[in-house]
Amino acid sequence: MAFFYYFLWSSSNLRTFLFLFSLLTAVASAQLSSNFYSSSCPNALSIVKSAVKTAVSNEARMGASLLRLHFHDCFVNGCDASILLDDTSTFTGEKNAGPNANSVRGFDVVDTIKTQLESACAGVVSCADILAVAARDSVVLLGGPSWTVQLGRRDATTASQSAAGSNIPAPTTNLSGLITAFSNKGFTTKELVALSGGHTIGQAKCSSFRARLYNENNIEASFATSTKSKCPNSGSDNNLSPLDVTSPTTFDNAYFKNVVSLKGLLHSDQQLFNNGSTDSQVRAYSTNPTSFRTDFANAMIKMGNLSPLTGTSGQIRTNCRKVN
Ligand code: HEM
Ligand SMILES: *[C@@H]1O[C@H](CO)[C@@H](O)[C@H](O)[C@H]1NC(C)=O
Ligand SMILES: *[C@@H]1O[C@H](CO)[C@@H](O)[C@H](O)[C@H]1NC(C)=O
Repeated sequence: MAFFYYFLWSSSNLRTFLFLFSLLTAVASAQLSSNFYSSSCPNALSIVKSAVKTAVSNEARMGASLLRLHFHDCFVNGCDASILLDDTSTFTGEKNAGPNANSVRGFDVVDTIKTQLESACAGVVSCADILAVAARDSVVLLGGPSWTVQLGRRDATTASQSAAGSNIPAPTTNLSGLITAFSNKGFTTKELVALSGGHTIGQAKCSSFRARLYNENNIEASFATSTKSKCPNSGSDNNLSPLDVTSPTTFDNAYFKNVVSLKGLLHSDQQLFNNGSTDSQVRAYSTNPTSFRTDFANAMIKMGNLSPLTGTSGQIRTNCRKVN
């Protein structure tokens, strides 16, 4: 402390002080690190990668499901694997919250990965880190960008069904609601657009986009007709359609091309290109795949940093579905 007062004393050294102070705070907030398991579980990353590879070869959609799991984890009280906790008679988790119920998937794959990690290095690798690494590996396997995953998250002992219901945007959300939901988590509007490009892979249920098909005019006619054939005005709620009609198992920028062509599947997708403030960014990503890849990767790193539990907070779950 005396050291700091010495610098403060001399106003010419104020800049030096501010520099040292910002260094210290940077160190204090940099709780995650890319080499977190390098001595405690050196094969952790390769174990996750090969299990994700097996799962995605069995079913390409699983890559999308694993990406979404990480998003739905991080947006609800941070990336703490709260989404993985099962409901019990005495515990209400997030799996049955509106945005997750009968919709999020990939839990069996996470269990498989966790079992392998427990036999390689028991009690070391968190379920929250599994989700972060599996999301990255999924995107890479489907042709998307790679990024270095920061590690060292620990697992929550609590979950919040109500926070899951209110923090994760709905497909009916308008542009200002999407901007607010992402801003509440520290994301810019540009990052909202980049992250929405996650919808370049995966599927949605008829019940998630029926209202758009039958009530909206900002939809390309032939796309509407063909999508209606699989999603009737009533019934068949669980019928699936690809979020990216052109290349649903390839992580590319076709999502943005579709949205520019009024072929966004969800109301929320088309909100990003509906004569509003995000039109120009959607157009930019539709013609510049490289900038989309770069911005998506950086925004995923930022998402992965949302309020992690570190140090002695939380725990390393043995079974991702329940608190130790
Ligand atoms: C911008 C706000 C967002 C909204 C309103 C939204 C909404 C939805 C909805 C309604 C579905 C289909 C669920 C179903 O019908 O079962 C879905 C699927 C999906 N979402 Fe989002 N989402 C958003 C952002 C994101 C982000 C940021 C990511 C990842 C970076 C993401 C990744 C996915 C993926 C990969 C799927 C397909 C999952 C699968 O096939 O299993 N979404 N989303
Ligand atoms: C967006 O949705 C919110 C909440 O449903 C509503 O209050 C607001 O008026 C809507 N904004 C626009 C521009 O439609
Ligand atoms: C935007 O505005 C133009 C001109 O008013 C209109 O033709 C178009 O349908 C609107 N919607 C979209 C999504 O561009």
